[in-house]
Amino acid sequence: MIRCRRLARTYDNAYPALKGVDFKIAPGEFVAIMGPSGCGKSTLLNLLGLLDRPTSGDYFLNDQDVSRLADRERTRKRREHIGFVFQAFNLLPRLSALENVCLPMTYAGVPASQRLARAQELLSRVGLGPKFRHTPVELSGGERQRVGIARALANRPSLLLADEPTGNLDSTSSGEIVSLFKDLNQDGMTVILVTHDPSISAAAERILRLKDGELAP
Ligand SMILES: Nc1ncnc2c1ncn2[C@@H]1O[C@H](COP(=O)(O)OP(=O)(O)OP(=O)(O)O)[C@@H](O)[C@H]1O
Ligand SMILES: [Mg+2]
Repeated sequence: MIRCRRLARTYDNAYPALKGVDFKIAPGEFVAIMGPSGCGKSTLLNLLGLLDRPTSGDYFLNDQDVSRLADRERTRKRREHIGFVFQAFNLLPRLSALENVCLPMTYAGVPASQRLARAQELLSRVGLGPKFRHTPVELSGGERQRVGIARALANRPSLLLADEPTGNLDSTSSGEIVSLFKDLNQDGMTVILVTHDPSISAAAERILRLKDGELAP
């Protein structure tokens, strides 16, 4: 599903945050990216999520070279293939859980009637059934992240990416969020998550370790 060849990202043509990494990820894998702060984890995940473009090297997603797509194409690919879950949830505060999950479908042009049904189905799937109408302030951190995951799944991505999705949660909520990722993976979703927490990476089948912008053996 993913193939990276000497993938590198240098910020402002000065700081080499990622120094050329090679790896592959097969469909259906559950991979954790670990490593010390500043080693390039978010840089790598942003590249994989088509939120950023590499300075050099190749990134093949589903056998297509997506390393040098123009912005519009990259946005379209991202919408079609990728769900992204953020540490800080990034929900819109004035919208209900339901509306937050509907939003990416609106951008993708899904008809209103289908959006609502799908958002309800997804919120039930992540265990937030009775709280459809709550806004983010009316939800706990763990519940907000469930909404974040439901939103990431809205456009049926083939790849689910998460950058420290439990970084703002207590250990109980973290455990619940991790089992949710595990369930999704067992249903066939390819999952890549960045974490500092060994109890989280233990859920993954494989760990990619980064150090100073390079993959550790
Ligand atoms: N937009 C940017 N402009 C310049 N430098 C950046 C930018 N984003 C990240 N960096 C630098 O690149 C390096 C890697 O950053 P990155 O965010 O990928 O680290 P990380 O492994 O995710 O760290 P953390 O665990 O703290 O989140 C860091 O030294 C960081 O300061
Ligand atoms: Mg980071």
